[in-house]
Amino acid sequence: MMLSRLLSVALTCAIPLVSALTITVPSNLTSAGPATISWTAVAGDPQSFSIFLTNADFHNTFGIANNVPTGAMTISLTLPVVPVGDGYTVQFTNVGNQSDVFAETPTFAIGATVSTSASSSSTSSIPATAYVFLP
Ligand SMILES: *[C@@H]1O[C@H](CO)[C@@H](O)[C@H](O)[C@H]1NC(C)=O
Ligand SMILES: *[C@@H]1O[C@H](CO)[C@@H](O)[C@H](O)[C@H]1NC(C)=O
Repeated sequence: MMLSRLLSVALTCAIPLVSALTITVPSNLTSAGPATISWTAVAGDPQSFSIFLTNADFHNTFGIANNVPTGAMTISLTLPVVPVGDGYTVQFTNVGNQSDVFAETPTFAIGATVSTSASSSSTSSIPATAYVFLP
């Protein structure tokens, strides 16, 4: 009993400061389409984060979720209208500091809108500047 307690303390102390958030995004995302982003985390990871969709080629960054609780493990959202192409990554960042990137996916492509019903109004686009970053 004493030993397990000691082990538990040792493990807690051994957690590195480096975040272990691992992000999974579907491979068939489309502009203005639905997206379910999921992740895994370990003890010691940040309690919450913001999610950005970025494209270095297009020099675009879209804020797609803010102040997401790490414990949710998954989030379903609708992507903004974005240029179709390769080179997108999803980044999880510090809620108060977008430059502090906790985790990032490999690059992936986003395809053209496939929806035939609802017109893909540009009002579904959420500019990153719309977010107020609370301290
Ligand atoms: C992606 O493909 C999977 C399996 O083919 C499908 O279930 C899912 O709805 C697709 N997602 C999108 C956003 O098209
Ligand atoms: C934001 O994060 C970056 C990268 O970690 C760091 O260099 C910078 O000092 C941070 N800015 C603030 C205001 O904390």
